[in-house]
Amino acid sequence: MAVKVNCLNPIAACGMKLLPDTYEITDNYADADAVLVRSASMHDLELSDKLLCVARAGAGVNNIPLDKCAEKGVVVFNTPGANANGVKELVVAGLLLASRDLMGGYNWVKDNASDENLAKAVEKQKKQYAGNEIAGKKLGVIGLGAIGAKVANIAVRLGMEVYGYDPFVSVDAAWGLSKYIKHITNVEDIYKECDYITIHVPALPATKGMLNADAFAMMKDGVRILNFARDVLVNDEDIKAALASGKVAKYVTDFPNPAIAGTENVIALPHLGASTEESEDNCAIMACKEITDFMENGNIKNS
Ligand code: MLT
Repeated sequence: MAVKVNCLNPIAACGMKLLPDTYEITDNYADADAVLVRSASMHDLELSDKLLCVARAGAGVNNIPLDKCAEKGVVVFNTPGANANGVKELVVAGLLLASRDLMGGYNWVKDNASDENLAKAVEKQKKQYAGNEIAGKKLGVIGLGAIGAKVANIAVRLGMEVYGYDPFVSVDAAWGLSKYIKHITNVEDIYKECDYITIHVPALPATKGMLNADAFAMMKDGVRILNFARDVLVNDEDIKAALASGKVAKYVTDFPNPAIAGTENVIALPHLGASTEESEDNCAIMACKEITDFMENGNIKNS
């Protein structure tokens, strides 16, 4: 009988092509042996007795009911590292958005595009969009997995002094990431030392609300926070208070959270980190290979 695959989200064609010709793509979730998913939540879906595996085209698995899958023996795959470059590049944009008033400048030019004297007006106006340089500033990277390590390494090349913290990566491994990254064994030191803090940890009970009032209280005045990992890592009310008091100068987040998106000094994006053609292709290829290798050979491997 043909293996039936249901896609809860559209997955890049170059990955789908790797599924054997004998596999059938079905719209019927309840009848699938394997499910491919990107960001759709599976928490409210029943797991059918037929379902054997779920492959997430992405790193985070917080949209998949892991406990229910474990109970039913459904194997869950993800694609760690496949979109890390896409996310890293957007974090670089985030660093620049946090330090230069690109949005203010862009909006001003757009709003005044029909002004014949625009070039003259610029001279007066541009002062208010002046920013800071990131070279020479301290960046704290919380979480040194595939994305955090890439961010740390590119930031070093941009001239930043980088501090990395990860509860699971050993000091040796962290130093191996780059001899220029200072490995911190205590996250409080990142809070105390850094001008920019970027968080790259999964959403777990232990990390939910990790950036909260207590953490902000330890940080430097005017710190800039970047969150391209998961919305729940940052406490909404606490970051709003920290922005209002000036403790946090800018919050760049890749989550369109209505509770904070309109707040002054927040730049919120619609979860674009992994939304590049390259990342989508890489994730689709890895996820489809994982399903095939499992269904054909019984291999359980995230690669
Ligand atoms: C991830 O967990 O890797 C991202 O959320 C991927 C995505 O944007 O789909």
